[in-house]
Amino acid sequence: MNNSIIIGNWKMNTTLADAVVLATGIKKGTENVDGVEIVLCPPSVWLVPVQEALGKSFNKKIALGAQNIFWEDEGAYTGEISPKMIKNICKYAIIGHSERRRYLFEDNIIVNKKVHGALLNNLTAVLCIGEHNKLTDEKKGRGRPTKKDKFNNIFYQLEKSLLGITKKMMQNVIIAYEPIWAIGTGKPATGIYAVKMIFMIRERIAKIYDWKTASSVKILYGGSVTSDNILEFTGQPEINGVLAGGASLKAKEFVKMCQLAAK
Ligand code: PGA
Repeated sequence: MNNSIIIGNWKMNTTLADAVVLATGIKKGTENVDGVEIVLCPPSVWLVPVQEALGKSFNKKIALGAQNIFWEDEGAYTGEISPKMIKNICKYAIIGHSERRRYLFEDNIIVNKKVHGALLNNLTAVLCIGEHNKLTDEKKGRGRPTKKDKFNNIFYQLEKSLLGITKKMMQNVIIAYEPIWAIGTGKPATGIYAVKMIFMIRERIAKIYDWKTASSVKILYGGSVTSDNILEFTGQPEINGVLAGGASLKAKEFVKMCQLAAK
């Protein structure tokens, strides 16, 4: 069984000093933690200082990820950061986070371009998908998303975001299943709910590609993950790790999560 991947998405938090202290705390706290892949996603302006703070742990123990990228490598795109610019610092790039879809109106076409941009630059794309509302059908034990609401439909997000991505390219794509209703609410999905949804995501990937691809793609859960509930997710063979927001901003808490998820 592969190691769980634990990604800390710091979002638009931390000053430079906070970022260095947080990274240093995580580095020290995870020195003896093996059997887990740790990824920190600080704000892009702090990527280099965090890399420096990690020192020898950088890429050996802890990899870095970008919270977002643009799809072109360079050009007249004011304010954007390209995959080419960060590819020597980051191993991962989060793409299509629901907050970017919501506040910056990123749609599946943009998300798809960014997935291509990341892969062309040898970054692993962490493609975020998730439904807006808790699926009422969960009560019936099926958990199927409504077909009516395209925005709410994770299969639609998945298919559109993966347009033009080949089976081979899928080796560098990770899916982060993040139900929007669970993000930052303190109300995570249950492990069973997440497993059901992730199984359906795999089924859809098998439909697009094949079962070999579907069973080897890593799928993470995200949404109010803490040290109190992480094992509900990483304890499931179907779930390959977690993407944590709030809980990744406290070194002690994040280290605890890594320790728990370590095999
Ligand atoms: P949360 O955020 O852990 O604070 O819910 C998760 C995310 O947005 O990736």
